[in-house]
Amino acid sequence: MRAAEALAPAIARLEAAGVEGAARDARVLLAHALGIGPDRLTLHLPDEMTPDQDAAFVAAVTDRAARQPVAQITGRRLFWGQWFRVTRDTLDPRPETETLVAAALEWPFLKVLDLGTGTGCILLSCLKGMPIAQGVGVDISDAALEVAAENSRDLGLAERARFLRSDWFSQVNGAFDLIVSNPPYIAASEMAGLAPEVRDWEPHLALSPGGDGLDAYRAIARGAGARLTPGGRLLVEIGPTQGAAVRAMLLAAGLEDVRILTDMDGRDRVVAAAKPDADGCGCA
Ligand SMILES: C[S@@+](CC[C@H](N)C(=O)[O-])C[C@H]1O[C@@H](n2cnc3c(N)ncnc32)[C@H](O)[C@@H]1O
Repeated sequence: MRAAEALAPAIARLEAAGVEGAARDARVLLAHALGIGPDRLTLHLPDEMTPDQDAAFVAAVTDRAARQPVAQITGRRLFWGQWFRVTRDTLDPRPETETLVAAALEWPFLKVLDLGTGTGCILLSCLKGMPIAQGVGVDISDAALEVAAENSRDLGLAERARFLRSDWFSQVNGAFDLIVSNPPYIAASEMAGLAPEVRDWEPHLALSPGGDGLDAYRAIARGAGARLTPGGRLLVEIGPTQGAAVRAMLLAAGLEDVRILTDMDGRDRVVAAAKPDADGCGCA
């Protein structure tokens, strides 16, 4: 069968399974099965598929029809211009998280700590953009840490990135002039309403800390002061309704210059704060 002929029934199957953007996903999966980049697919649509390619495409479409995320099927995700390996043990990096990376790179830093590193996408993007910096990524998931370490090697950043199993700050030593985090922040009551791709396939540890969704921010607010250098910055990703609550926690923890930053869609996405410097001012 030619690649072009395989596409239409795959799209129909994904649409029947309720997949949004079925045509786009079918094209990405077909390119994956053919072993080419999605940007080259049109060129190869007239090609005859080998039996292996055909079987790989059928398997990928079957997985997608079961609502497995595309990045888990292809095993990778483009984030901040670099490819990251993604597995069932890691959150699929989201484009809105690039807002945090952009904010982190607005000011120079030498030592960065990423809490809840997952694939390592935030830490490794920050290190890529700040060639003199070193970083530590922590996670409670050993499996996620393995993926992050592999990504650091693939991206040529292994010498500047270290990964550590830690419950937030519990195993972290030293001081950092930048702390970043995209912690789990979905309230327990919201989990059932998530899309199947997220609810049924992504690690619950990466999605929700349980309760009102704010426990990770409480832990980060409690520990940040002791691990930030004077004048050091903290940047945390938030859900769009959590800005006021997180802002209040960081102020109560003694941080200053607390600001809420919006993403490309204009939604509250990041809370930025600073530890007061030696003169008592946290202003950047
Ligand atoms: C929302 S995901 C973010 C992953 C990645 N930083 C990103 O932005 O794509 C949250 C991460 O926090 C980790 N995590 C959950 N509870 C934790 C804890 N108590 N201590 C450290 N990491 C934790 C999860 O395993 C998960 O990798």
